[in-house]
Amino acid sequence: MWFSCARGVMVPDNPLQQTASSCTFDPGLSSMHATSHSTRLSAMSMHTRLFAPVIAFLFCHAASAQSTLMQGKKTGEQVYTSVCMACHETGVAHAPKFGDKAAWAPLIAEGQHVLTGHAWVGVRAMPARGGSNETSLAEFARAVAHMARSSGGDWKDPDARLMRQIASEADKRLVKSIKEQQAMQRELHALVKAAK
Ligand code: HEC
Repeated sequence: MWFSCARGVMVPDNPLQQTASSCTFDPGLSSMHATSHSTRLSAMSMHTRLFAPVIAFLFCHAASAQSTLMQGKKTGEQVYTSVCMACHETGVAHAPKFGDKAAWAPLIAEGQHVLTGHAWVGVRAMPARGGSNETSLAEFARAVAHMARSSGGDWKDPDARLMRQIASEADKRLVKSIKEQQAMQRELHALVKAAK
C-alpha cells in the first residue's frame, strides 16, 4: 500500500487560500488513482472504500506541507554564517546586530511569524531573502530563529504549522508592496503622459 501526493488545484492568484492537495491512494490491488475508483475497488472492503480517500487526504495534506514549505536542509546557523552575517555581524546600514539584545527585543516582540514573513519579503535596506535566492523559506526562517535565540529570544526552528503562518504573513506583505509599486507605476505613467 502506498500514498503519493502532489500539491495541486491551486487558486491561481493566491495558493495560500487553497488548502486541498491532489492525492492518489493505492491499496496495493492496482496502480490506479483513488479518484476514479468505481470498478477496481470491488476487492476492497466497504470500510476501506469509505475511508481510504479521507486517510489519503489527511496523510497527503500533512506530507505536502512537509515537502514544500519545510524544504531546505541548512541549519539556521549555516544560513546565518553564509548569507546574513555579512550585514548582521557588524550592523551594516543599521541592520540589527547579532547578539544585540536591546536591538532585537522590539523585533522579537513582533512575533516569529510576523518578523520572519516581513524580513523574507525585505524591509528597507534589508534585501528580500537576505539577497540569497538559493535560500529556501524554511532555511531563511531557521536563520531568523537562530538570530533571535542568540539575541535574547527563545524561538524554535519553525514546524509546518508555523511555516504556514510565516507564508501567510509574507503574502500579506507582498500584496502591500505590489500595490505600492502599482501606485508608483501610475505616478510614472502620469508624468510621461504630461510630458508629451
Ligand atoms: C545586505 C545586507 C543584509 C543581509 C545580507 C541580510 N540583512 Fe537582514 N537586515 C539588513 C538591514 C539593513 C536591516 C534593517 C532594516 C531596517 O529596519 O531598516 C535588516 C533587518 C533584518 C531583520 C529585522 C526586520 C524588521 O522587520 O525590522 C531580520 C529578521 C533580518 N534582517 C534577518 C536577516 C536574515 C535571516 C538574513 C540572512 C538570510 C539577513 N537578514 C541578511 C541587512 C541585511
